Amino acid sequence: MFLRAPLTPTFFTGTTTDESFNCPLFSSPVTTSLNTVCAAVKGGSSNHRPLTGVVFEPFEEVKKELNLVPSGYHQSLARQKYADESEASINEQINVEYNVSYVYHAMYAYFDRDNVALKGLAKFFKESSEEEREHAEKFMEYQNKRGGKVKLQSIIMPLSEFDHEEKGDALYAMELALSLEKLTNEKLLNLHEVACRNNDVQLADFVESEFLGEQVEAIKKISEYVAQLRRVGKGHGVWHFNQMLLNEGAAA
Ligand SMILES: [Fe+2]
Ligand SMILES: [Fe+2]
Repeated sequence: MFLRAPLTPTFFTGTTTDESFNCPLFSSPVTTSLNTVCAAVKGGSSNHRPLTGVVFEPFEEVKKELNLVPSGYHQSLARQKYADESEASINEQINVEYNVSYVYHAMYAYFDRDNVALKGLAKFFKESSEEEREHAEKFMEYQNKRGGKVKLQSIIMPLSEFDHEEKGDALYAMELALSLEKLTNEKLLNLHEVACRNNDVQLADFVESEFLGEQVEAIKKISEYVAQLRRVGKGHGVWHFNQMLLNEGAAA
């Protein structure tokens, strides 16, 4: 807490065992502890001006925080301005990421079957599944960083068959992937809203910088894949699409 003053500040650092001492730059005693830093304003004839409010008294100001440091073994020491609602929403998002990862893993297993054998699609969904799991882990790491507790919830059993009479398997699976990415985006936006509602700038920044941009990229890429699969039909064209993924595809 410094006063705005158009004068040059001078710092004095000293060590004392007294509760208070007279700083040579102040007219009144400065309350302090063992290590003391006091700041004063020096300038021409104004040396004897009252300096009330210029002093930053860290040991006074920190007392309130010191009282808040939990002593219980099961309580987080790091937790600060982290709402219960934010903690619960992060756990929900971990569950969303795991569920999506599980569905992509099921798609990988389907396209890797010997009688389906679309290795490019299998590779794409395997990498996508791993990426969603990484997202879950990133949220877990953040939960711990903020002093929350990770609580894993159940994962729903996904489909195991992805063939569709009209659309065929590749297009059907890719449309499903697109809707899952959009759903994930909605959940991320909800999480961002929770962060804003609780004035948690750090959580909002985390969601924005680590997830929101990437999510929009994923939606665009899968939309393009859906458009391409609609163009090529169910037969030979799917083989070429599959080869394209095998050579250059990347996870969503
Ligand atoms: Fe994700
Ligand atoms: Fe994704």
